[in-house]
Amino acid sequence: MNYCIGADLGTSALKLLLVDGRGEIVKTVSRSYPVQYPHPGWSEQAPEDWWAAFVSGVRELTQDVDASHVRGIGVGGQMHGLVVLDEKDNVIRPAILWNDGRTDKETKYLNEVIGKETLSRLTANIAFAGFTAPKILWLQNNEPENFAKIRKIMLPKDYINYRLTGVHATDYSDASGMLLLDVKNKRWSDEMLGICGIQKEQMPALFESYAAVGALLPEVASELGLDSGTRVVAGAGDNAAAAIGTGTVEDGRCNISLGTSGTVFISSDRFAVDPANALHAFCHAGGDYHLMACILSAASCNKWFCEDILGTHDYAAEQAGLTDDHLGRNHVFFLPYLMGERSPINDTDARGTFIGLRMDTRRQDMLLAVLEGVAFAIRDNVEIARRQGLSIAGSTLCGGGAKSELWQKILCNVLNVDITLLQTEQGPGYGAAMLALVGCGAYADVKACANAFVKPQKTITPDPVIAARYEEQYRKYKEIYPTLKDLFKTLK
Ligand code: XUL
Repeated sequence: MNYCIGADLGTSALKLLLVDGRGEIVKTVSRSYPVQYPHPGWSEQAPEDWWAAFVSGVRELTQDVDASHVRGIGVGGQMHGLVVLDEKDNVIRPAILWNDGRTDKETKYLNEVIGKETLSRLTANIAFAGFTAPKILWLQNNEPENFAKIRKIMLPKDYINYRLTGVHATDYSDASGMLLLDVKNKRWSDEMLGICGIQKEQMPALFESYAAVGALLPEVASELGLDSGTRVVAGAGDNAAAAIGTGTVEDGRCNISLGTSGTVFISSDRFAVDPANALHAFCHAGGDYHLMACILSAASCNKWFCEDILGTHDYAAEQAGLTDDHLGRNHVFFLPYLMGERSPINDTDARGTFIGLRMDTRRQDMLLAVLEGVAFAIRDNVEIARRQGLSIAGSTLCGGGAKSELWQKILCNVLNVDITLLQTEQGPGYGAAMLALVGCGAYADVKACANAFVKPQKTITPDPVIAARYEEQYRKYKEIYPTLKDLFKTLK
């Protein structure tokens, strides 16, 4: 039996999957690592922590099988993070992550001085604080000595692939989120590199996600206990990998992810740009394109409220008493902007907010408001997509938050769309393993592999009464941010 390893290099943890040639998940292993918040709104991680998690995780993952049968490795990873290496390929400073909001000034410079039209013409996108290009400018402005040392720039999962193979590579889906790629033509934009003060030699080589970038370095193969012929494919940004893992590969299909971030991902078989640039226009991991929106805090809002505020890890117990009767009737509302917000408001100053508290408010009302607030923020983005003429009649759902039946139901009724849960809910890691299987020749292409592997488990449909109540609630929710927007700027 042959296997491939799929990895999801997430923000809170690395999840590893051992998958056989028929798509069965033989084993999963998870390793968590810390996030540093050196200032409010900043977030960083040590690439060495990712690598340590990868090495020990793979050893555990393969300990019960003949590891010489592992043919390929695919990694999907948190997008946009800036990893910088010096001339000896040592990491220069901690990685600046996708949900880091320090680049307000640089983002404004790109959008207002370079101009949104130019950015969109060059890259199909405008600047958002979490994207990689504003971070490069931030480094230039604030840490010139580190900027001067840069020999290679890469994204988080590319660092793992570099350690595995010694090759500086990235893939088109992840590269799309750097604001340095000419997305339409799938090549680095010389003009954008110039605007950011970097040379093409500092960028990794570009690959399709399923293409092999190399084989394991011999010393790494022995460290991992794997065969040195094991192929490593370029992998993908975690959302594109999740789209593969949830079968979101045909034109117009939608996947929603409730992970640390929340994303709405719409697959497209041709290149298209949202005229308002509210949706990201990125390459897909199967070779096509996609449109995407991202909220910075989704399942992380629930984690924050349960763990940091209520002091519990028992999420299910907190949700236990919430029945259909509660849905769409909450007097408490919550804005989920704990890390500022990207889509659609692009505002690093926005903050989380509870509103409507009363003397009879209980923890359950506040918890429900958190789950609902995230669903409303996702709806804001679905509305943008609908305004672009994209009809979203249904969606698959993945990510840690998707495990909650209550949250599934809230989302289904807030969006008023069918939500399909899959037999395998390991989105990005599963998709990454599929990319590796394609790269090893087990399937002709990504679509063929997705068609063979991805099976629905159940579809939940909106309840007209609850959906109508949520329609009313959403109207009230929509008033909150515009009312507070200016105030947020004074809270810094
Ligand atoms: C997408 C984004 C997030 C991260 C999370 O644009 O920033 O979904 O990829 O890992």
